[in-house]
Amino acid sequence: MAVIGLVGGTGFDHWGEPAEARVVATRWGAPSDALMRYEAGSHTFWFLARHRRDHSIPPHRVDYRANIAALAKVGVERIIAVNAVGGITERYDAGVLALPDQLVDYTWGRAQTFSDDDDEPLQHIEFAQPFDAVVRAGLVAAAADAGVAVETGGCLGVTQGPRLETAAEIRRLRRDGCDLVGMTSMPEAALARELSLPYAAIAVVSNRAAGLEAEPVTMEAISATMANAIGRVHALLDHLPDD
Ligand code: HPA
Repeated sequence: MAVIGLVGGTGFDHWGEPAEARVVATRWGAPSDALMRYEAGSHTFWFLARHRRDHSIPPHRVDYRANIAALAKVGVERIIAVNAVGGITERYDAGVLALPDQLVDYTWGRAQTFSDDDDEPLQHIEFAQPFDAVVRAGLVAAAADAGVAVETGGCLGVTQGPRLETAAEIRRLRRDGCDLVGMTSMPEAALARELSLPYAAIAVVSNRAAGLEAEPVTMEAISATMANAIGRVHALLDHLPDD
């Protein structure tokens, strides 16, 4: 049984009644919300709503440092992030659950490192593989056990938001090798690595990315697809293997 940090994104702001809610302060500020403890499957989860439970914090204003530091403070051993993303390449249609293995960071102006004042050691983390192979393997095993289809692998482009992309930006991301596009995996993944917390993401494809469908991307459609997919995310969490 492991203690797992779970960062819930768009469409996953709530997770029923927690066993415990804890307000955590960090030297980087307050995390997005109280941390909620759940016992599910054979694991303890500390859930944090990345955008706050009322979904009021946009991607560029999330205090990613406070969030990761708060999860470290309550003693999580690894982190699973849930992200709503757009699908760019054909494998990643709306409704697909993906376990990306690469990312490209297009964000800017976000507090992106704990190495940010004289008291903190300068770190040049190794980040060739931004998502942890062991955590990803656990998710693949959970998917097989739960009978949930997942696309394993894929490169996630992380844009600044909060606006959605232009069609030309999506064409550029495709040329750059991105299969998926989201707004919140960076600096989250790098900060987890700085604290040596193994981190992987369940990327839920909520829509085909901008310009790929005749209809414009709407938040209503994103929310509806997320609502539909979230049961499968729970099934994965319930079937995470013991280790
Ligand atoms: N682009 C960026 N972020 C997203 C998208 C998208 O199309 N869908 C959900 N999050």
